[in-house]
Amino acid sequence: MKEIDWSNLSFGYMPTDYNVRINYRNGAWGELEISSSEYINIHMAATCLHYGQESFEGLKAFRGKDGKVRIFRMEENAKRMQLSCQGIMMAELPVERFEEAITKVVQLNERFVPPYGSGASLYIRPLLIGTGAEVGVKPAKEYMFLVLVTPVGPYFKTGFKPSPYAILRHYDRVAPLGTGRYKIGGNYAASLMAGEEAHRLGYSAVLYLDAKEKKYIDECGPANFFGIRGNSYITPKSDSILPSITNKSLMVLAEDLGMTVECRPVPVEELSTFEEAGACGTAAVISPVGKIDDLDENKSYIFSKDGEAGPVCTKLYNKLMAIQCGDEPDTHNWVTVL
Ligand code: PLP
Ligand code: COI
Repeated sequence: MKEIDWSNLSFGYMPTDYNVRINYRNGAWGELEISSSEYINIHMAATCLHYGQESFEGLKAFRGKDGKVRIFRMEENAKRMQLSCQGIMMAELPVERFEEAITKVVQLNERFVPPYGSGASLYIRPLLIGTGAEVGVKPAKEYMFLVLVTPVGPYFKTGFKPSPYAILRHYDRVAPLGTGRYKIGGNYAASLMAGEEAHRLGYSAVLYLDAKEKKYIDECGPANFFGIRGNSYITPKSDSILPSITNKSLMVLAEDLGMTVECRPVPVEELSTFEEAGACGTAAVISPVGKIDDLDENKSYIFSKDGEAGPVCTKLYNKLMAIQCGDEPDTHNWVTVL
């Protein structure tokens, strides 16, 4: 294997040794299959290709100081994938089968789990797709569950340095009663144009507002949003956002640190009252928000003047990473040690 420069990885795809697959046929999930091919062979009329029957997940494995590999909260990803499957009428994979597949694929690719202290991790990408052929718009009868892994560095180029976000009211990611709470490919296709416009204008991502009234904050491109005011961690409650496992974990950690957690609709104007803000997710971890430009209203909300993350974001980030890598006790039972 060519030497991997672990400390300079970006968030991208790199081939690894194996992926694992489970097929659903005749109303039942089959045996776990191990593959070293990067390709899948599916019917040209598969529903994932025509009608978007596709859900994916994202979770990470970390190498500890003790050399052991730790997977963060995989049961939560298994349950969220089941919800996504309900949302677009796909066969649900039992939680134990999901966990079996994740554990296996990480073990098989153990040499790709980045070393402790490199700042990198092994990104695990489960995928569940409709493979059955249909021409009418209806759910498939056959599905494939597949898990690939790839070592990654920070999602946003700036890593843990604050970066700018934009409010662009001429785009919505999802509809008010639509599919925003599911992790399905269609939501990401619908976000590409806005995301590219934000990048062209020099922003890391779009801060989406609720699609119905454009009054409340929804989420931050591929991550949830939180604001810090005094001793409070404030994060939007909305049916149109993905229920982030990172955000859920940070809410618990914020309480552990003695903070008050508020999960409720957050009006855009409230941005002016936050001392710090962050985007959070598996890929984003905590990406501090330096400023938010409301391009329609010609307003800027500044959260970092010196180009550094604020003290609360830093504390939460360090706490989360310490649990994920095994530097601190896993008091909430979030980590599976292989
Ligand atoms: N919101 C969106 C739209 C996402 O794609 C993600 C990434 O998974 C998140 C939020 C963060 O969720 P999690 O913390 O579970 O990775
Ligand atoms: C994640 O954080 O795992 C995501 O899925 C976000 C993005 C890469 C789509």
